[in-house]
Amino acid sequence: MKNTDNFTTMTQPPHVANFNQQFCDDVLTGLQASPKYMQAKYFYDAAGDELFQKIMNCEEYYPTDCELEIFTEQTEAVAQALIADGSPFDLIELGAGDAMKSTHLLRCLQQKQADFTYMPIDISGHVINLLNDTLPKALPGLQLNGLTGEYFDMLKKAANLSDRRKVVLFMGSNIGNMPVPEAEEFCKELRRHLSINDSVLIGIDLKKNPKTILAAYNDKEGFTRDFNLNLLKRINRELEANFDLTQFEHYPMYDPETGSCKSYLVSLTDQEVHLCDTTVQFHKDEYIFMEVSQKYTVQQTDQMATQAGFTPVQHFMDSKGWFLDAVWQVSQ
Ligand code: TRP
Repeated sequence: MKNTDNFTTMTQPPHVANFNQQFCDDVLTGLQASPKYMQAKYFYDAAGDELFQKIMNCEEYYPTDCELEIFTEQTEAVAQALIADGSPFDLIELGAGDAMKSTHLLRCLQQKQADFTYMPIDISGHVINLLNDTLPKALPGLQLNGLTGEYFDMLKKAANLSDRRKVVLFMGSNIGNMPVPEAEEFCKELRRHLSINDSVLIGIDLKKNPKTILAAYNDKEGFTRDFNLNLLKRINRELEANFDLTQFEHYPMYDPETGSCKSYLVSLTDQEVHLCDTTVQFHKDEYIFMEVSQKYTVQQTDQMATQAGFTPVQHFMDSKGWFLDAVWQVSQ
């Protein structure tokens, strides 16, 4: 063991050391695989969060605007779909973030005097604390119970807290950041955590003109490029690695046939990178697969729902038909 390791464990609280160990293991597993890959969950350090906000706000990135349009222009109809038979429910949002889009829905549900508790779930305690602070002010009278942790652990917890009907929100096309087989498995797992009469409102980005999609993941200001390179920067800082950021180039691509929009970082030269007591070799033109954002047809999303044990009951789309918020009911 190197001195730096002792230093780390002695001076940092144990959860930081554990995190670094896990981070190190995950990065090495990815870089020793063929082809090389990174786990997307590590994108989001402070700088990553900031770049991600910039991506969301840039001209080419359409999914947020499209989904926001659905939540502002069709609020009543979406709210009504969740209210369904009018029985009380827990509204559970997976990965709530700043809950900007859901706030429109929450306000409308309140106006309709729906009997519900909003339960945002996020892996970041910081996010949940912020919501606990801001939401009661923005939406007086809201019944709120934020949960910090992994999605399925917290869904279990929510099921134990009350036996009310569950409505799960999973927005922002976050399902798209899983490869298709993983997304299918996720939907099945979600179904296993729910019961008859429960439902899901899921936001999914749709196939459209390939140029429109590629541009959204290749903005001209370079925020998406920087977002990808930032992960190497984070590894340099937190795992004392020595990636030369000038020797990796962002390569985004969209394949209209499969609907996969993928980001890669391509090594511009033969090079070695040192991290976690290990040396990783890169050949010139070798790539690291960074992230996927999968696009679907409406029909494919229906199939995915059915396969997982849901019945797709309603489709809400923006005026361009670029984005889908679907209501899936647990099948009988
Ligand atoms: N889920 C969104 C999407 O696929 C947001 C997102 C996740 C994203 N990772 C990203 C956007 C990386 C741009 C780059 O579009």
